[in-house]
Amino acid sequence: MNLTRKTFLGTGLLALGGCRMFNIATVNPRRPKPSERVNLAVIGCGTQGFANMNGFLQDKRVQITTVCDPVLSAGKYSYRSEKTYGRAPAKMYVDAFYKNEDCRMVADFRDVLADPSVDAVLIATPDHWHAIQSVMAMKAGKSVYCQKPMSLGVSEGQVMARVAKETGVTFQVGSQQRSSSEFRVAAELVASGYIGDCKACEIGLPGGNQGMYGHQNSLCRELWPVPDYFTPKGMWDMWQGPARHWEGNAFIQGIHDPMCWRFNSRTGGGMITDWGAHHLDILQWTLGMDDSGPVAIENMEHDRDPNDRIFDWAANYSFDVVYANGFRAHVSNKLPNGLKFHGKKGDLFVARGKLERPESLRKWNEKKDLKEGDVHLYRPEGGVSHEMDFINAVYSGGRTACPCSVGHRSITIAHLANICERLGVSGLKWDPAREQVVGNDAANKMLQVDHHNGWTLG
Ligand SMILES: NC(=O)c1ccc[n+]([C@@H]2O[C@H](COP(=O)([O-])OP(=O)(O)OC[C@H]3O[C@@H](n4cnc5c(N)ncnc54)[C@H](O)[C@@H]3O)[C@@H](O)[C@H]2O)c1
Repeated sequence: MNLTRKTFLGTGLLALGGCRMFNIATVNPRRPKPSERVNLAVIGCGTQGFANMNGFLQDKRVQITTVCDPVLSAGKYSYRSEKTYGRAPAKMYVDAFYKNEDCRMVADFRDVLADPSVDAVLIATPDHWHAIQSVMAMKAGKSVYCQKPMSLGVSEGQVMARVAKETGVTFQVGSQQRSSSEFRVAAELVASGYIGDCKACEIGLPGGNQGMYGHQNSLCRELWPVPDYFTPKGMWDMWQGPARHWEGNAFIQGIHDPMCWRFNSRTGGGMITDWGAHHLDILQWTLGMDDSGPVAIENMEHDRDPNDRIFDWAANYSFDVVYANGFRAHVSNKLPNGLKFHGKKGDLFVARGKLERPESLRKWNEKKDLKEGDVHLYRPEGGVSHEMDFINAVYSGGRTACPCSVGHRSITIAHLANICERLGVSGLKWDPAREQVVGNDAANKMLQVDHHNGWTLG
């Protein structure tokens, strides 16, 4: 059975048939009282779903009430094929934490969105699902923590940002580097001029599909029957959802593995979106470009193999991101993972857990040395985690560390680079005000993400 919008109309789930069911004018995001817990549902119980679940379980203000995944339970999974995932192990994990058996298990996320007791959802599904699930959740009045990259293409992000604004729900993009002090300190030092005039940086992202992720390659080339852990019937369709389905609805062993779907253009954007969602986001934050973006992508070089239908993004790539003020970021998978800013007074390098700064700034301390006139970036209240920052905002209705519109601007850069890669052009000019490519119709068409199998953004 193909679980498209149409077939759902016949299953008694009429009210859940698509995302047009909710009238934005009637959306009224519930803000629990401080005395109440936030009822959270987890949509996507895979590698990151478990990691975020763990983060939310540490917050006593949260009750995980529901876990949702089309997979019941599957083994040999995760980045080193060492874990079991799906809704059954997720329920076991949550129930073991709370010492009860209360967590609800759901295969179809529309049942989660129809549940009025759910205040907020964590969306940790593969990238091809983020936009549609987020928009449906927002229209159902749920607060949304959506994993990065928040979209598969520019048009999706535009709709998400618009719906977030119109509904007023709380939205956190899972680009959690914004809640890590090393990245904030780096961004504040550079933005406040502590490394001197800075007009360039280098950004290292991982390479694609070979090396660190190469272990799944052989598996992904074989055709297998759909495994019975996609249950009830039709749940492989639910996994593929709005992506172009594999021919004949074929199941390709490993294609749903997190080290495979990321590298296929039906379901992910390769490493440029996967890690660009983190480091390009820090670039935008540092440059004060959260509501804008660069004016060009230049010097794209890559080695994409046009005959590889599974790993169909480039394994090696480099390109420049150019801003109107002349700032240039050189991005490459050959550089060390992180961002290196070149200032007149020295270089500053930041990566996860690492901040290397010029000798003169070695003893710099953000608490006492950041002056009133310096750039002060958003700090999660109480120095909490990205997940807790989201929960703060669910209660208060205030902003999050990475709101929807901000995440959209950051990931747009990665999408533009991928458009260059796909079109085989070395660059393109971008108008950040109109969010349009300048003088390239083919590139403008590629801003649009096509949705399949009856799924629509509404
Ligand atoms: N913030 C970070 O540092 C970070 C780290 C890793 C992954 N991520 C992001 O998290 C997301 C998930 O990545 P992952 O590595 O955990 O992938 P994964 O494949 O391990 O997990 C995805 C899960 O979603 C489930 N799923 C698929 N379709 C679904 C649907 N319609 N409804 C509910 N569940 C569905 C899958 O069965 C699987 O359990 C990705 O967008 C990824 O980029 C973020």
